[in-house]
Amino acid sequence: MSYLELAGLQKRYGNSVAVDDVSLSVEQGEAVALLGPSGCGKTTTLRMLAGLVAPDHGAISLDGAEITRLPAHRRNMGYVFQSYALFPHLSVARNIAFGLEERGVARQEIARRVDEALALVRLAGLGQRRPKELSGGQQQRVALARALVIQPSVLLLDESLSNLDAKLRDAMRHEIRSIQRSLGITTLFVTHDQVEALTMCDRIAVMHRGRIAQIGGAEDIYDRPATRFVAEFVGRANVLPIQRDTQGRASVWEQALPVEAAMNTDLFVRPQRMRIVPVSEPVGEGMARLTGRVLRSVFVGDHVEVLVEGGGGQLTVEMPSGIAIPAEGAEVAVVWPHAESRVFAREAP
Ligand SMILES: Nc1ncnc2c1ncn2[C@@H]1O[C@H](COP(=O)(O)OP(=O)(O)O)[C@@H](O)[C@H]1O
Ligand SMILES: [Mg+2]
Repeated sequence: MSYLELAGLQKRYGNSVAVDDVSLSVEQGEAVALLGPSGCGKTTTLRMLAGLVAPDHGAISLDGAEITRLPAHRRNMGYVFQSYALFPHLSVARNIAFGLEERGVARQEIARRVDEALALVRLAGLGQRRPKELSGGQQQRVALARALVIQPSVLLLDESLSNLDAKLRDAMRHEIRSIQRSLGITTLFVTHDQVEALTMCDRIAVMHRGRIAQIGGAEDIYDRPATRFVAEFVGRANVLPIQRDTQGRASVWEQALPVEAAMNTDLFVRPQRMRIVPVSEPVGEGMARLTGRVLRSVFVGDHVEVLVEGGGGQLTVEMPSGIAIPAEGAEVAVVWPHAESRVFAREAP
C-alpha cells in the first residue's frame, strides 16, 4: 500500500458528476500533479483529500489508516488555496502562526517555527508586515509557509501559481519544487498548466471530465498519450485525418502511410518530432514521410515553426532556429520516426 491512497472517489453535485471513480496511489515524498482543464474535478479531488468535501463513494487512506471521514483539522494536511486566503488584518507572522496556534503549540515554539518557515520561503525579516504590503509572489510564499509550518503529512497546492506573472511563476516553480524535494514532502499539485505539471512533479495524473485519463511520468504522458484527450491537452500535436482506400490501406494527404487503416481515425504527430528534408532525400529506415509545400515560417525565439501544406491539409514542423529554413513555396518532405505516430479515433461530434 502506498503512503496516500485514493480509491474510487466520487462526488456528485445534483445530477452532474464532478469527480468520477478517481483512484490514485502516491508514494511518500512524491509530487504528483493533477492536470486538466477547468471544471474537470481537480479542486473537488483536492478538497476531498483535505476533508473539506465529503466523497459520495470511495475511500482515502494515509500512512495505512483510513481517513475518509476524518474531519479536516485532524488530517494534518497543508492546503495552499488558489487565492492564497491570507488574513488581511493579521501580520505575516500571525498568518503563518495560525495553524500552530489552533493546535495549541507553545508560544516560544511557534515563534521559532514561524522564523524557520519565513527563512525557508526567503521572507526572513518580513514577519511584521501585513499581506497587502507584500508583492503577489511574496504573498504566495506566505501561503506556502503557512501550509508548511504545521509539518503536514501531505501538501496540497491548488493552482497556486496562476495569479503570478510569467517570470515570477517560473521562478516560483523551481523554488517550490526544491523546497518540496528538500523536505521530502508528499505533494499533490493541481494545475491546468502543462509546463507546471511537467516541471514540478514526479508523476502527472491527467484529468478529463472527473476521471483520470492517464497517470505517468512527463515523458510517458507526452510521448505515449493514452487517449486522444491527453494527446491534445498536453503539448501540441499535428492532427491529420487518415483516409482508408478500397484495399484497406491508410493514407494521409493521399500519400500512403504505414499506419493502421481504421475508419474515422486521425494521425497525431508532435511538431518537434518532425523534420524537413529535401524531397530527393531517400526515406530512412523506420521513418514516415509526407511531401508538401512550405506555406510560411515563423521565428519564435528558440525555434522556428514551419507550416507545411499538402493535399488540402496543413501541419506544423518545429525546427531548432539557426538551421536553414526552406523558402516559402518550396516543395519539401516532412519526415518523422514512425514510432512517433499515434492513431486515435475521431470523437463523435
Ligand atoms: N460546490 C459546488 N456545487 C456545485 N457544483 C460544483 C461545486 N464545486 C464544483 N462543482 C462542479 O464540479 C465540477 C468540477 O469542479 P472543480 O473540481 O472545481 O474543477 P476544476 O478544479 O478542475 O476546475 C464543475 O463542473 C463544477 O462546476
Ligand atoms: Mg479548480
